[in-house]
Amino acid sequence: MTIHLPFWIPIHTVLATNQKTIKSVFFILYLLGFLGIGFGFFLFNSNLELYVTLAELATKFGTISLYLFLLTLVPGILQRLNVVVLLSTSVVLFRRQIGIVMYILALLHSFYLSIIPQVMTSDLRLQNFATREIYGLIAILILFPVWITSNDVSQKKFGRFWKSIQRLTYIAMFFIYLHVAAIEKSAQLLTAIVILLEIISWIKIWLRRPTRTNLTS
Ligand code: HEM
Repeated sequence: MTIHLPFWIPIHTVLATNQKTIKSVFFILYLLGFLGIGFGFFLFNSNLELYVTLAELATKFGTISLYLFLLTLVPGILQRLNVVVLLSTSVVLFRRQIGIVMYILALLHSFYLSIIPQVMTSDLRLQNFATREIYGLIAILILFPVWITSNDVSQKKFGRFWKSIQRLTYIAMFFIYLHVAAIEKSAQLLTAIVILLEIISWIKIWLRRPTRTNLTS
């Protein structure tokens, strides 16, 4: 099935022809993200008022991170469901970069909301994390190998195993759901819909798999 979104064609053309520039912008975002985390440690002691303002922003970063995460799953779902949408092709152009930014935003989010205050008060303990934060932490830990291997060098080095590493995303997806389920209703609903579509698309692939009898007959 092909879904035409005519307004997207010029946007896709711009994205496709400016890939290098857009990837450089992503790279700047990575750097800003890491600087932001470092800055948080400094700010906690030097300007708590500004820190609190940024921590409020960090809540929003969690939401953006979640939506970017779901966005990276969409092309795979549509492909398995045989739905062709140009928008999905646009996402594929930058899927790796979107995934990396998603992870850095999740780090910023968790550092500002939980980790920096605990480290700076010398009280970083597992017991200090609420259950929903533990789910978030598990998601972050599972996504770490996915994030660190999201590059051409790792893809070449790990060969077929690389896909298995990337598939850890599906396990992280459930912990992200548990994390947001306890916090935000609309995010919870959207995440549940994407997870459901993900499962349906995999069931479809599984059902279409040639069976042994089909192969031998
Ligand atoms: C992939 C990882 C994560 C994603 C996608 C994510 C996403 C989100 C989202 C969407 C919200 C709701 C935001 C809102 O209410 O506007 C949220 C809230 C929250 N998250 Fe995360 N999160 C992640 C990891 C973490 C981790 C590791 C921690 C802490 C250790 C954490 C701590 C929190 C806290 C404390 C809130 C509640 C904020 C508030 O209501 O003021 N998150 N997260």
